[in-house]
Amino acid sequence: MVTLRDIARESLRNLQEQGVDSLPIDDAARGILDAWRASSSPVSAPARSETSELSTPEQKIDYLRRRAVNWSAARRLGSLREKMVFSVGDVHARLVLVGEAPGYDEERLGEPFVGKAGQKLNEILRAMGLRREQIYITNICKFRPAMGANQGTANRPPTPEEIAACLPLVLAELRAIRPACVVCLGATAAHGLLGGEGSVSSLRGAWHQLEDHLPVRVTYHPSYLLRNETLSARRAVWEDMLAVMEKLGLPISDKQRGYFLSR
Ligand code: URA
Repeated sequence: MVTLRDIARESLRNLQEQGVDSLPIDDAARGILDAWRASSSPVSAPARSETSELSTPEQKIDYLRRRAVNWSAARRLGSLREKMVFSVGDVHARLVLVGEAPGYDEERLGEPFVGKAGQKLNEILRAMGLRREQIYITNICKFRPAMGANQGTANRPPTPEEIAACLPLVLAELRAIRPACVVCLGATAAHGLLGGEGSVSSLRGAWHQLEDHLPVRVTYHPSYLLRNETLSARRAVWEDMLAVMEKLGLPISDKQRGYFLSR
């Protein structure tokens, strides 16, 4: 049975992972908390010290990975599949990419962007002079959205509720990694992270701010490029990536800068 105390503990943990470290409470709430503290079993003590002792990005990300496996906000919905697919890459990366949700291949292999969209993403990164291992790749939803018993290899985008359930994890990842900038791959990631409903074409081409300090760029999802190998779509993504390279202070050769100029 889920008790009021379980719900309060989970809500407070979620708030803490969103960076909230104090809350106003009235005398009645203080009394309840004091009573809970007095009766708490020794089992809860290590959990508290565990979180407060986390200081490196490695420790924080490792903690989040373990928490994500049974992330109750996501489990409770009943619309996401069982297996959690966490992020991959360098926890000290200056660039974080945020995708949509794991698909069939990602769920099978337990890693984001390992299917066809992942191959396209690797191509884009190579053109930027980067490898996957040098950046951090996450998804706005950590579980493959479910589509019933005969789902097979079919995938669907996560709903706003599914995204909201996983968002505290993603925000906590960003606070742990503290990248120089973030790229949202596709509208689903952009809406989850930045709010709003605009299309990628209306959101791309400019820097957005997350939590008043973190620069975020929006570009087309690699799957969109797979469906739409047009010059204008490829050029748009490349322009966004050039802006990201500039923001990161990465070297940009004449060839890279002029890649689409002659086409
Ligand atoms: N598409 C995504 O958005 N994320 C993945 O991990 C794979 C495909």
